[in-house]
Amino acid sequence: MRYTGLIERFRSRLPVAAETKIISLGEGGTPLIECQNIAKIIGHNVEIYVKYEGLNPTGSFKDRGMTLAVTKAVEAGSKAIICASTGNTSASAAAYAARAGIKAFVLIPQGKIAMGKLAQALMHGAIIIQIKGNFDDGMRLVKEVAEHAPVAIVNSINPYRLQGQKTAAFEIVEELEGAPDYHYLPIGNAGNISAHWIGYKEYLADKKSQKTPKMVGYQAAGSAPFVAGKMIDNPETIATAIRIGHPQSWDLAHKVEAESGGWFASCTDAEILSAQKLLSSSEGIFCEPASAASLAGVMADVKSGKIPKGAKIVCTLTGHGLKDPDTAISQCSGAMININPVMDEVKNAIINNM
Ligand code: F0G
Repeated sequence: MRYTGLIERFRSRLPVAAETKIISLGEGGTPLIECQNIAKIIGHNVEIYVKYEGLNPTGSFKDRGMTLAVTKAVEAGSKAIICASTGNTSASAAAYAARAGIKAFVLIPQGKIAMGKLAQALMHGAIIIQIKGNFDDGMRLVKEVAEHAPVAIVNSINPYRLQGQKTAAFEIVEELEGAPDYHYLPIGNAGNISAHWIGYKEYLADKKSQKTPKMVGYQAAGSAPFVAGKMIDNPETIATAIRIGHPQSWDLAHKVEAESGGWFASCTDAEILSAQKLLSSSEGIFCEPASAASLAGVMADVKSGKIPKGAKIVCTLTGHGLKDPDTAISQCSGAMININPVMDEVKNAIINNM
């Protein structure tokens, strides 16, 4: 049967009616890939799986929430949606709005979103409002303006976003035939970790799994309000997707931490880039910098002895590496060989590099 997206697949667990017109791009159903090479490098006999959410239609996990948020906005009669974004939400909102034939207004921090994401929002025809400020400023403005203009907010404060995103947990439990021991995610607003927890708890309650994982949220060191225990006004990190100092799901995420027995922690930009490179070069999996914070977290926690031997760990890779080609290329400078177009020089390049 043709796959038509996660709302159809998990219809009975989502707030849609038989007559609801579904706005979908075939999102969900992303691969869960075992990383045996990295597990070997880390040692310690752990099983590591990555849920490659970069393979959603617009290249990030946001599509899981956006299909439902836009479906429900259209059902309610909205002609326009709005969001603040570090890039991926804007790309997803723009695509689903185009599909639905409605307008998307996106507020982005000027100069601080990755090139691929900007290209997507532009191509899908979103109205792009660049602000001289950061994501947190954008979010504040979006909440204010939605009270004065006919637009539906599709940031993760929209509960339909989390309902759509919980389906990633369903897929993981189905594929592993049970919940993992640990689930690591990069944290920005903390909507996604909260959404996964809803999904894991739902499957536990319905006896589709015997347990829930410990949920572990990793932030970038310069942008780590959950680690600081307070909001931060000037977050900075190379992982622009998670450059957020005032997370919107603050209370929800603290509940997830307490209920699941998990924790929040941070890693440096250098650790993030190194995990991103490791995934690309030793597993063939290209994710964007923010996504690699999940694996960087696993590596730190295995090293410090927090993870017992034999643990089954899932890392969410939230976005595709192609979203941010600039950061990728600048990490690999000097990696190219320049030659004249003659056979001998090609041959030498091969022999010298075997
Ligand atoms: N990873 C990526 C690639 C993201 O784009 C985001 C959030 C996160 C992780 C964090 O997810 O906010 O649910 O904790 N990006 C939002 C955006 C803020 O505007 O695209 P979260």
